[in-house]
Amino acid sequence: MTDNAKDPKHAVAPTGMKRGLTSYGDQGFSLFLRKAFIKGAGYTDQALDRPVIGIVNTGSGFNPCHGNMPQLVEAVKRGVMLAGGLPVDFPTISIHESFASPTSMYLRNLMSMDTEEMIRAQPMDAVVLIGGCDKTVPAQLMGAASAGIPAIQLVTGAMLTGSHRGERVGACTDCRRYWAKFRASEIDEEEVSDVNNQLVASVGTCSVMGTASTMACIAEALGMTVPGGATPPAVTADRIRVAEQTGTVAVKMAAERLTIDRILTPKAFENAMRVLLSIGGSTNAIVHLAAVAGRLGHKIDLDVLDRMGKETPVLLDLKPTGQHYMEDFHKAGGVATLLRELKPLLNLDTMTVTGRTLGEEIEASGSGFKQDVVRPFAAPIYPQGGLAVLRGNLAPGGAIIKQSAADPKLMEHEGRAVVFENIEDLVARIDDDALDVKADDVLVLKNIGPLGASMPEAGYIPIPRKLARAGVKDMVRISDGRMSGTAFGTIVLHVTPEAALGGTLAHVRNGDRIRLSVARREIALLVSDEELEKRAAANPVARPKASRGYRKLFLQTVTQADEGVDFDFLRAESLQNDSASEQNKG
Ligand code: FES
Repeated sequence: MTDNAKDPKHAVAPTGMKRGLTSYGDQGFSLFLRKAFIKGAGYTDQALDRPVIGIVNTGSGFNPCHGNMPQLVEAVKRGVMLAGGLPVDFPTISIHESFASPTSMYLRNLMSMDTEEMIRAQPMDAVVLIGGCDKTVPAQLMGAASAGIPAIQLVTGAMLTGSHRGERVGACTDCRRYWAKFRASEIDEEEVSDVNNQLVASVGTCSVMGTASTMACIAEALGMTVPGGATPPAVTADRIRVAEQTGTVAVKMAAERLTIDRILTPKAFENAMRVLLSIGGSTNAIVHLAAVAGRLGHKIDLDVLDRMGKETPVLLDLKPTGQHYMEDFHKAGGVATLLRELKPLLNLDTMTVTGRTLGEEIEASGSGFKQDVVRPFAAPIYPQGGLAVLRGNLAPGGAIIKQSAADPKLMEHEGRAVVFENIEDLVARIDDDALDVKADDVLVLKNIGPLGASMPEAGYIPIPRKLARAGVKDMVRISDGRMSGTAFGTIVLHVTPEAALGGTLAHVRNGDRIRLSVARREIALLVSDEELEKRAAANPVARPKASRGYRKLFLQTVTQADEGVDFDFLRAESLQNDSASEQNKG
């Protein structure tokens, strides 16, 4: 038992079914009523006396990435009962990338609020968060961080890879690759329809290092999953065993009052950033880490991330940066294999859900074995971290590029801007043969930031069809939006402040020159300050508004990418004024 649990202030706190009684002005009656109702489901007093472990069930017919939810919930319940707890599952909203209009990012904060308030409202001594698809794990970590009770993350696990005409394929790097071939008329309708059946070979999350896999690895690096929890594929026995173990650990966490703030410390976020860089992880993870950290009053410093990037190589040979898929990473020993290589760069004294430190868990994982998915530190797949932070007059608040997935020839580039004012303008003109565009131009897409369009993954601007047909595979592309972690290309994202908040991006015009220098970490619009001021005065930007509902709340309170695109009022109190002042700057 920890010192915390011996503390009388903690010892007297109500536990189990006695927690958080509904207010009727008579506590005894509230408990009597609660027990009467739950006994309607057939529970005995003996069961109701146990510590209660809540299980967040995010199963949904619209979310195939969570298609193994019933098996996971059952296994978690078994683990909880083996350890003497009472498991109770409950639903929250669920978000899938392809079934979330206008964007999944728009709903992430709503899911975090749902998660936080349901954890607060219902009596539980610890909570198991079951998520997987891109926005669900961040939303759950954000909500649980704010709720503050012991919490453990279980991910649904990656899908299996499929096979198309003898070639191994997986969502969604290969979805993009095949669609690009179709756009370039390299494959016909029949083939694109055939491959559509093979890209997602089972339930589970995307099989490459997209945002879901990135967040799974990060959750393990943060100490929020059981060791080995990130990589077992969704349909394997290993995944079910991880679920059972998660239930058992949750009971221990409840007994020891191992609250989430003791795990999600600034040092744990540093470990998460190291892992993000070394796996060539999704750019989205930076936004999500900033949001989770912000709930606890911590900040993700982009300049620190960039410094870390210079000393943290990409070690994981996984698509889109490398060759392999998540199931291969699992067979290669999973995150433990990576952590062993990264050990000299990690904070080893951070606490994990098991009650042991990250360093102790790395020791317990053994010495590893021969494999070819995680490279040795001395022979990386890419010499620097996967991500670089850019600044300049086009992005004074920062922008991100995934350099490990970019064309090295374009990383030092100056070109003419070809501007699209918003996503509708892009759709209308990108494939027009009359579009004035050349391969060395810079494509600029405005108004897809948090306020502009709730930050869709539209930063992966397609190569204009006439250039794609001529064999152009990559161009410098710039926007205030995001990009799927499964995408690749020389793509500058998260430009801050965004166009809809009056950032410089709003005033870029066709024909302006833009300079990208990843070596100097620069993204510059080669237009004088004087001219930019004139343009801003001639075309002032008004913050978008809505008249009612969740959209009104979103537009009034959402922060910029560097603050996690969280709602200002959901961040830790100590950070709320920061957000307000930053936004006023825009
Ligand atoms: Fe769910 Fe990729 S769409 S993880």
